[in-house]
Amino acid sequence: MDFKNLVAHCKEYGFIFQSSEIYDGLSAVYDYGPYGVELKNNIKSYWWKSMVQMHENIVGIDAAIFMHPKTWKASGHVDAFNDPLVDNKDSKKRYRADQLIEGYAEKIELKIRKDVEKAAERYGDAFDEAQFRATNARIIERQNQIDAILARLGAAMKAGDMDDLKAQIETYEIACPESGSKNWTEVRQFNLMFNTQLGNIAGEEGKLYLRPETAQGIFVNFLNVQKSTRQKIPFGIAQIGKAFRNEIVARQFIFRMREFEQMEMQFFVRPGTEMEWYNYWKDARLKWHKALGTVDNKLRYHDHDNLAHYANAAVDIEFDFPFGFRELEGIHSRTDYDLTQHQALSGKKLQYFDPEQNENYVPYVVETSIGCDRMFLAVLSNALVEEAVPDAEGQESTRVVMKLPPALAPVKVAVLPLLKNKEALTQAAEKIYNDLKRHFNCQYDEKDAIGRRYRRQDAIGTPYCVTVDFDTLEDNTVTIRDRDTLEQKRIKIDDIRSFVQDKVSIENLL
Ligand code: GAP
Repeated sequence: MDFKNLVAHCKEYGFIFQSSEIYDGLSAVYDYGPYGVELKNNIKSYWWKSMVQMHENIVGIDAAIFMHPKTWKASGHVDAFNDPLVDNKDSKKRYRADQLIEGYAEKIELKIRKDVEKAAERYGDAFDEAQFRATNARIIERQNQIDAILARLGAAMKAGDMDDLKAQIETYEIACPESGSKNWTEVRQFNLMFNTQLGNIAGEEGKLYLRPETAQGIFVNFLNVQKSTRQKIPFGIAQIGKAFRNEIVARQFIFRMREFEQMEMQFFVRPGTEMEWYNYWKDARLKWHKALGTVDNKLRYHDHDNLAHYANAAVDIEFDFPFGFRELEGIHSRTDYDLTQHQALSGKKLQYFDPEQNENYVPYVVETSIGCDRMFLAVLSNALVEEAVPDAEGQESTRVVMKLPPALAPVKVAVLPLLKNKEALTQAAEKIYNDLKRHFNCQYDEKDAIGRRYRRQDAIGTPYCVTVDFDTLEDNTVTIRDRDTLEQKRIKIDDIRSFVQDKVSIENLL
């Protein structure tokens, strides 16, 4: 399903709404509706279960969003958590200078792709794309151009050279996408942290930040957790919580938001063993994604060339979103940077006594960090399809169906009396619903023809529909319909619970 329809579906079926929509919305902030919150909670449960409860050496915390302002000085966010901002003087629109330059390179890439498509049409089955790209003079020239643009951009970003970013915008004659104007301000660093003020302290000292990552709540609690749980290295601390970033350009629905949720785990290891654990978590996290049934070619690794100030290795797990491959999760080897910085600024030791080595040291950290909302978007874009199916009369019709892994589905089972005006049927169906609702998130629905009710459940991804008909009253059996195969079979009322439990259990993913 294309991206526009996916966004519309999310609103129509109560998954995601624009924040404060009646006031025309707040850009890059979203609210989760009744089915959205269930799906999001299930994603979080899957993460928590597999990261925390399945590992005896990983424990969870829930730290506050506000932290002492020195935290963000120590972590480097006050000085270095910036994006290069440029304003267009005519349209008054703001952009990230690096994204404007990347967009310029993407336009050249589009020209290459057009040439490739034309050649593919011309040569038919005999076409060899790799060979064509490697030998066609025009493509080689354009590819060299792209490489040079990205190399210069990378160097300017690494050096924090705002003047060169401005010079690049001028050299490539980049125009404002809204107005076509080339009248730009200077490029300047823009800090992405939101800030607010403590009530009882005026001025700089009372300046508080909304955390831009959950990780720091874990670092500052490292010793509290280690001592209170008597964990031995290697061990991890995990957390799910809100993070806030004042993104200059926030696009693509819930992909890049200003308020979002992260699921992060810091794994504390003995110095010198960090690459071993980095590779372990890189592998483990990809397996976690694949357990959801995501096809292999929709996920890939992307190693970072330009490492953040705290990292000695970093990789993204990218997902093929409707707008192309983008970062879904990051795995970072963060060295001892954060703990050492917090030690220095707080004056408190953040060291671990290793009984096997008989020495104290500041542990190294391998981090796994995934955006819950991005995961939601990946799950949804993977699941939502429009497909041809036979209708009740056997004629071909189309249905929109969310083929979610049953463990993540917002509603596990819908109970549907065949007819709503037959009290014996509705009473029997209500009884089944009242029993099942104690075990799963269920729905009772008696409105409209049965075919329409099935379609409604398909659209929200309900894996099973139970239909109560006249035979039910005779033999205590119901029809249970499988969302994906459309297979319908009769089972005993007493067996519904174990049948559904077996299929929707999170255990199937672990
Ligand atoms: N603690 C490391 C850290 O925060 P990051 O790569 O900046 O690393 C980690 O963010 C993950 O958080 C990303 O892979 C992405 O899934 C999610 N994320 C980051 N910024 C986001 C935003 N503005 N909106 C939604 N998700 C975001």
